[in-house]
Amino acid sequence: MATQTMGDKQSSTLDIHYQDKQVTLPLVRGSEDEVGVDIQKLRQATGLITLDPGYGNTGSCKSSITYIDGDQGILRYRGYDIAELAERSNFLEISWLLVFGELPTKKQLDEFSHEVTRHTLLHEDFKRFFDALPKDAHPMPVCAATVGALATYYQEPDSEKQIHSSIVRLLAKMPTIAACSYKHSIGQPFMYPRNSLGYSANFVHMMFATPCEEYHVDPLVERAIDLLLILHADHEQNCSTSTVRLVGSSQANLFACISAGISALWGPLHGGANQKVIEMLEQIAREEGNADRFIAKAKDKNDTTRLMGFGHRVYKNYDPRAMVLKRMCGEVIQKMGGSNKLLDIAMRLEEVALNDEYFISRKLYPNVDFYSGIIYKALGIPTNMFTVLFAMGRMPGWIAHWLEMRRDPDFRIGRPRQIYTGSTRRAYLPIEKR
Ligand SMILES: CC(C)(COP(=O)(O)OP(=O)(O)OC[C@H]1O[C@@H](n2cnc3c(N)ncnc32)[C@H](O)[C@@H]1OP(=O)(O)O)[C@@H](O)C(=O)NCCC(=O)NCCS
Repeated sequence: MATQTMGDKQSSTLDIHYQDKQVTLPLVRGSEDEVGVDIQKLRQATGLITLDPGYGNTGSCKSSITYIDGDQGILRYRGYDIAELAERSNFLEISWLLVFGELPTKKQLDEFSHEVTRHTLLHEDFKRFFDALPKDAHPMPVCAATVGALATYYQEPDSEKQIHSSIVRLLAKMPTIAACSYKHSIGQPFMYPRNSLGYSANFVHMMFATPCEEYHVDPLVERAIDLLLILHADHEQNCSTSTVRLVGSSQANLFACISAGISALWGPLHGGANQKVIEMLEQIAREEGNADRFIAKAKDKNDTTRLMGFGHRVYKNYDPRAMVLKRMCGEVIQKMGGSNKLLDIAMRLEEVALNDEYFISRKLYPNVDFYSGIIYKALGIPTNMFTVLFAMGRMPGWIAHWLEMRRDPDFRIGRPRQIYTGSTRRAYLPIEKR
């Protein structure tokens, strides 16, 4: 049995006594004064390991990229508040900030934009790659496969110079890959990137233009996409980012790590939730908009239904990204003529849930996915592309974490332990005796 002396704000160590063994573990303090206990010596000194399914109490690394205070509803990239960045910045500037640590100078941003713009083309052979995939494939595994396949085209080792090229290529080619995965699914010809357009406008053009006629990107659509990308750009050690770090910890190639991150993001409990939100809202609309009945199902322990877009592992307050998106929803729907009905149902669900004891006591608030789906839909983005947009936005975050991990002096391959609960030793029984 372990007895512990809890460290207070002034302490710098934590003592653990277990049987006849004792260990003094150092406390580690972050720049926002969060305190963690460094357990690296725990097993060696006591034989104990920690057990933390879902890693709710486990810090896997030190990081200087993104700060979240889930109780206060704070999100900052490199110290800058998300609401301020959403209002004043753009996605390429945010990408630079996340990957390189500081806001770029004008010269740096111009050069970076030029580099990214010049690398948007995919190798022509990728047309045959896409042709080999079924038309009805979900675009997320198509994107994961294509990003993974980039490693077969760019085979140089991850030297510093090549790392920079890989970063630029990933950021540049992801919108092209995303748009191709969509065009492939609807049987339209791929549109080549246009160097005259900005990052988000270029993506919109590749998605919606056809070679038959001129297509002009609406500035509101461009801005909305850019904003959505900014809001998704990083979120510290979430499931997909931890996947990128874990795969990267074996020193796997950057493209392979990002491909793994895209796969992790696809799940409905992570990036797939925004698609589920729209499906939920449409289901409620079909059932005559009865939000209360859906909430009752979400609260019922004998029913697996969850209120999609609600709750978060870290935020125990309103997700600050959902706040920005809620504001944008009305504007986009007004201009693009999207479904007011779905927005009305979402706002009704939010109102009911925020006043319901079940959601209040569990601190379940709208997360980023609650309103993003409504905006995507109003912009004409098909439902199965929502998560792809999330992946496009998360790209600089994944890259920044991969880079930070590679340069970390404490770098080690990720290899958790376990508490074994299977059979103890037993003798092999020949098949005729079983
Ligand atoms: C995001 C999420 C996976 C976080 O999970 P988590 O931190 O492991 O939280 P838990 O699953 O342990 O949930 C804690 C409690 O709240 C309940 N809960 C959590 N989210 C809920 C939701 N969306 N609807 C209804 N109940 C919910 C759980 O049933 C549990 O209740 P209990 O304590 O009575 O057993 C979870 O809130 C969820 O599934 N949300 C819906 C999916 C979603 O929007 N995902 C996008 C995240 S950005």
